[in-house]
Amino acid sequence: MSVTEVFIGSDHGGVTLRELLVTHMEGRGILVRARLGPETAGDSVDYPDVARALCAAVLAAEGSAGILVCGTGQGMAISANKVRGIRAGAASDPFSARMLRAHNDANVLCLGERVLGSELAKVVFDAFIDADFEGGRHARRVAKIDNEGSEA
Ligand code: RB5
Repeated sequence: MSVTEVFIGSDHGGVTLRELLVTHMEGRGILVRARLGPETAGDSVDYPDVARALCAAVLAAEGSAGILVCGTGQGMAISANKVRGIRAGAASDPFSARMLRAHNDANVLCLGERVLGSELAKVVFDAFIDADFEGGRHARRVAKIDNEGSEA
């Protein structure tokens, strides 16, 4: 595991899974640097606001990673990928989560509380956080994402 510390954030749709994952990380001895988002599921917020704040924290802390939880993980992923330097993906299975790190050098994992059961969510998280970027040909491709952008 090359990630040294983790930031986690959610909107109201992801509060329960966010807290479950904090407990899971603490149990694994992973440093949770900050927990962003509402205290309760009854406190409605806009997921792009949480995503932007979490991405800023991840970019400011070298070697860190971010976890964003909403109802589906999709709104968080779309929002996070608007931030330059962030590579985010939503995953619902451990293979995809591992590949997000190994091939895409993702620094943010997005999860859907309304998609994942709690045990599967922990397995998906573990697959992401325990994987390392493989570099090589993947580094060239990731550089193209970060540096070139694209025209529609
Ligand atoms: C909130 O109801 C819900 O839209 C949000 O959590 C997320 O699923 C959006 O992508």
